[in-house]
Amino acid sequence: MKHMYPRNFARFYDIIYHRVRDRADSEYFRNLARQTNGKVLEIGVGTGRLFMNAIKDGADIYGIDISQSMLDILYGKLDRKYHHRISLQSIVDFSFDFKFDLVIAPFRVIMHLMDKEEQIKALNNVYQHLNSGGSFVFDVFVPDPGILKNGICKQTDFDDEYEPGKKLRRIVTSIPDLVNQVINVLFRLEWEEDDRTKIEEWKVPLRFFFRYELEHLIERSYFDEYRIIGDYEGKPLDKDSKEFIIICKRTDIPNINP
Ligand SMILES: C[S@@+](CC[C@H](N)C(=O)[O-])C[C@H]1O[C@@H](n2cnc3c(N)ncnc32)[C@H](O)[C@@H]1O
Repeated sequence: MKHMYPRNFARFYDIIYHRVRDRADSEYFRNLARQTNGKVLEIGVGTGRLFMNAIKDGADIYGIDISQSMLDILYGKLDRKYHHRISLQSIVDFSFDFKFDLVIAPFRVIMHLMDKEEQIKALNNVYQHLNSGGSFVFDVFVPDPGILKNGICKQTDFDDEYEPGKKLRRIVTSIPDLVNQVINVLFRLEWEEDDRTKIEEWKVPLRFFFRYELEHLIERSYFDEYRIIGDYEGKPLDKDSKEFIIICKRTDIPNINP
């Protein structure tokens, strides 16, 4: 099932996430693209929060996403000469007639894939679009046992002006569904516009992963090598890790074990 981002969520995405997320992951993904000698693909490119940096750095980067609303914001920011680099495609079945040296799916893109079949299909599709020696890097959060048990009840995670004199508030509720390894997130936006307060809600399920599920999943895919680190500074996983950052490699080294 596809979960497209609604228009007003796309509209306010950059205002919220440049504030609450850039500090964590932006330099990490920027450096990965900088260090790549060849083509890069960002899957779930969204509004270009990270993509725009790579374009500024002169990367040979492409972007795909399933939400037209998000891509429309990106088109609005991106010089026309780069528009051909963006397309509406899913990680599960995207296709290009060339390959990449780096593919990234930053900020929980994989958590939008609910079932095993589409997760494996996605991994294998990425693999087939990598040159030998190329890497696929994606991230998911380390499940927090407290949140898995109790959920989150109406927590305001953004409360500020989105334009001079106009307030925007985002309130998050999450209801865990442990058996299906899903948290059902309800986002509520409240913003001032046309002399009144507008409200919009959006429910989206996010599939969460434990470490060994991730390992089994990757081992079932075509990828021949991978490692998982615990933050965007390269720290190994430990008891305080908040992120799983998974770095998969296409080595094309023949498997000598029968
Ligand atoms: C949290 S946003 C991340 C956007 C951007 N990478 C960033 O870091 O700001 C997740 C994005 O993944 C996209 N997405 C969800 N499912 C997808 C799929 N199957 N294939 C490609 N993109 C997908 C959503 O539309 C959304 O734009």
